[in-house]
Amino acid sequence: MTAYDIIEAKKHGKTLSKAQIDAFVRMVADETASDAQIAAFCMAVCIRGMTDEEAVFLTQAMADSGERLSPPADGIFADKHSTGGVSDSTTLVLVPVLASLGVKCAKYSGRGLGHTGGTLDKLESFAGFNVNLTAQQFSSQVERIGAAIAGQTKTTVPADKRMYAVRDVTATVDSIPLIASSVMSKKLASFAQVILLDVKYGDGAFMKTARAAEQLARLMVAAGTAAGRQVEAAVTDMSAPLGDAIGCNAEVREVIEVLRGKRNNLSRLSLLHCERILRMAQGTEEKRAKTLVQEAIDSGAALEKFRQIVSAQGGDTAAFDDAEALPLAPERVILRAPGAGKLHIHAQALGKACAQLGGGRQREGEDIDHTVGILLKRRAGDSVAQGEEVAEVFCRERRQEALDLAQSAFEVRHSYRARPLVHCIISKEDISDVRYQKKDNG
Ligand code: URA
Repeated sequence: MTAYDIIEAKKHGKTLSKAQIDAFVRMVADETASDAQIAAFCMAVCIRGMTDEEAVFLTQAMADSGERLSPPADGIFADKHSTGGVSDSTTLVLVPVLASLGVKCAKYSGRGLGHTGGTLDKLESFAGFNVNLTAQQFSSQVERIGAAIAGQTKTTVPADKRMYAVRDVTATVDSIPLIASSVMSKKLASFAQVILLDVKYGDGAFMKTARAAEQLARLMVAAGTAAGRQVEAAVTDMSAPLGDAIGCNAEVREVIEVLRGKRNNLSRLSLLHCERILRMAQGTEEKRAKTLVQEAIDSGAALEKFRQIVSAQGGDTAAFDDAEALPLAPERVILRAPGAGKLHIHAQALGKACAQLGGGRQREGEDIDHTVGILLKRRAGDSVAQGEEVAEVFCRERRQEALDLAQSAFEVRHSYRARPLVHCIISKEDISDVRYQKKDNG
């Protein structure tokens, strides 16, 4: 069985067997398959799709492509994963809040993907931050300080490490089986028992409709449930940027502000997710969970926990005392409202513009510029006057195409209908239509 034959089969829309999927993933992990073959496979999957069963086989093969981590001790470990959005730094708020409340977080994350930002890139805004923890370092840090956030390595989920990097630069991200297998392989390779998935839909997400996001959510919940994990998915709005900052340094600055009490949709959603995980992990009653989470912020315990995580992974903690330690690029461009009325902000255009200014990768493995970004001065739904300042772009070079794209993200209409932050919750009771029979896979 060759990589060529497997790609050819998927190109013609054939359903791949478990043996074919296992073989391809093995070739990805041991580097027998080239980047070109990975790209061709992913493009074939994007265009031809996969059955639910193929997607679950792909997830399992990817999870097993490296070593599976074991928990450092008895107890409940939690994880949360977003399918990707713009100004979506919920992980960086949620992990310290939960860890400060005694819920241990074992978090495997990814880098920026397409127009969306990545947790690992944001963490590397702290000079020296090490995202490449060994399995042993990861587990012992979770045990010692209650949280670790790391990325795929050559030994942990190596198939996702390669496929993720190739998908980022080959327009092969927005596929339900590829997203489901990428996210869930990382979750299954790690040891978190309680997993909350944040499945985004809307302009700034890979799933443009709530229906597609629900389908993705059900598939991931089914894959996790089949593996014996306690999984729920929140389908959440990503029509406008979640927070007020886009770009690594700007977003990390905002996370620190949120942990100091700043309120916006980023803080609201992060705290809602914390409350849900507290309920899943400890059965904490809703009102009590809300109180505990707010206390973690108000007391400064969550901010202190974030500093501890950064320090444990070798990062420079100067930004906790001085935001200027996370500099913003020197060129400033003001974006203005194109008319008078209610402001609409198209998240994808802003994410792409930030990537084009150097905040994202055009080629695999490239360094990114952590200092470029966009700060929103007004939020979606605000009433604005024509010409009013709505955002500020920070860049090194005034790349006109990117600046025009950023400006095009702002539209003014007569009205604005805000969507609820959380559209629905999908749990194991909602997955009966997923066509995957666990008995087939033992
Ligand atoms: N997050 C991941 O880990 N993988 C994806 O494909 C999308 C979001």
